[in-house]
Amino acid sequence: MARGSWATRTGFILAAAGSAVGLGNIWGFPTRVGQGGGAAFVVVYLACIALICLPIMLGEIAIGRRSQLSPVRSFALLRPGTRWWLAGALGVLAGGGILSFYSVIAGWTVAYAWFSLTGSLAAEEQAAGEFFAAFTSNGAASVGLALLVLAATAAVLLGGVRGGIERVTKAMMPVLVVLLLLLAGRAATLPGAAEGLAYYLRPDLSRLLDASVFNAALGQAFFSLSLGMGTMLTYGSYLSRSTGIASAALGVVALDTAIALLAGFIIFPAGFSIAGFDPGTSGPGLIFAVLPQLFATLPGGGVFGTAFFVLLAIAALTSAISLMEVPVAHAIDTWGWSRPRAVLAVTCGVFLLAIPCALGNGAVPLLSSVPGVGMDFLTLMATAWNDFALPIGGFLTAVFVGWAWRVDRALEELMRDRAWFPAPGAWSFLIRWLCPAAIGVIIVWTFASFL
Ligand code: PHE
Repeated sequence: MARGSWATRTGFILAAAGSAVGLGNIWGFPTRVGQGGGAAFVVVYLACIALICLPIMLGEIAIGRRSQLSPVRSFALLRPGTRWWLAGALGVLAGGGILSFYSVIAGWTVAYAWFSLTGSLAAEEQAAGEFFAAFTSNGAASVGLALLVLAATAAVLLGGVRGGIERVTKAMMPVLVVLLLLLAGRAATLPGAAEGLAYYLRPDLSRLLDASVFNAALGQAFFSLSLGMGTMLTYGSYLSRSTGIASAALGVVALDTAIALLAGFIIFPAGFSIAGFDPGTSGPGLIFAVLPQLFATLPGGGVFGTAFFVLLAIAALTSAISLMEVPVAHAIDTWGWSRPRAVLAVTCGVFLLAIPCALGNGAVPLLSSVPGVGMDFLTLMATAWNDFALPIGGFLTAVFVGWAWRVDRALEELMRDRAWFPAPGAWSFLIRWLCPAAIGVIIVWTFASFL
C-alpha cells in the first residue's frame, strides 16, 4: 500500500494542532495547575514549552519528514545497526498506554454532552461534584463509553491519512476557540473571580523549589504538545518535503498553549466563585465539577454546555486518533500488516488496558495499598506515561537529534528549500545541551525527592 500524505500544508498544521489540542489543554492543564498550587505551575509550564518542548518538536518532525517512516523504523534508518530504534518502541508503547486512560476521560465528555442536552446535570454547589462521583462510580458506563470512543477512533483511522484524519480535524478549532473566549468572559464577571485570577496568575514562589511541580509541568507540556512519543514524528512523516517545518511547529505550539491558558481563565474564576472550592483536591473531576455550575449561570446554559462538551469530545477524538496512529503505523511499516488488521489489534489491546482505568480505584485495590502509589489506576497510568515516559522519550529524541543523527543533518532537513528557520545556532544549543540536561535534572530530582 502507498504511504499516505497530507493533501496540503494547512492539512498538516490542522492535524498536528488537532493532535495537540485535546483533553490535555482543557482537562489536564487546569487539573495540573490546581495540583501544582496555581501560578507557579504556570510559570514552569511556559518555560518548559519554550525552552524544551519547542526545540524537541522541531527535531521530532525533522526525523519523521527525513525518513518518511514510523518511529521505530525512522530511528533504525537514520542510525542503522544501533539500538536507537528502542526510542521509537517506547513511543509505540506510550501511544497505547496513554490512549487507555485518554479514552476513558473522552468517554466522560461524551456523557456530559448528553447530560447537558437532556438537562440532567446537577448544577447546585456541592451537587455537581457528587454527580460526577456518582457517575464515575458506575464502572460499566465508563467502560462502555471508552469503548465507544475507541471504536470511533478506529473508524476514522480505517479511512487513512487524508480521507480520515485530515477531514475530521477541519473547522472545529475556530468554533472551540470562540466558545472558550465566551466562557472566559462570563467567568471573569462572576463573584469571586478576582480570587481565582490571583490564584492562577500570582505565583507562590515557594512552590518553585518543589521537584514535583517541575516534573508535573514538564510531563504536562509534553503531553499537551503530543511530544516525546513519536506522534509528531509520524505526522511529520506524512509531510511533503516542500513544507517549512519551523513555521508550522510554531503555529501548533502557539495555538496549543493559548487554548490551555484560556481553559485556566475559565476554570479558576468560575471555581473560586463556588463556596468552599479547593482546586488542589478536585483531581481528575475538576472540570466536570466546575463547568456545569458555570453553565448554570448562563442564559441558555444547557445549549452552551452541550456545545462545549461536544467540541471537547471532538478535540479529544482528534488527539485519540493521533495516539492510535503511532502503534498502527508501526504495525503497518514494521510488520507489514494491513491497516484494518493493525487498527483492530491496537483497538482491542488498548481496550483491555482501558477497563481497569474505567473501573477506578475499587477494582484495583492492590495499587492503592502500595505505599507511595496510593492512587487509582487511571492516575497511575497518567503519571507513569505523561510524567516519565514522555519526558524520557523527549530526552532520547534530543540526544538523538543533537548527537547521534547530528544537528547539521537535522538542520539540513529543517532548512530544506530555504525554509524559514530563525536562530539555528540557538536551536542547536538547546537541543544538544539544554534539553537533555534540563530533562535529566528534573527526572533525577524527582526520583531523589521520592526517596
Ligand atoms: N496532546 C493531546 C492532548 O492534549 C494528547 C496526546 C498526547 C496526543 C500524546 C498524542 C500524543 O489532549
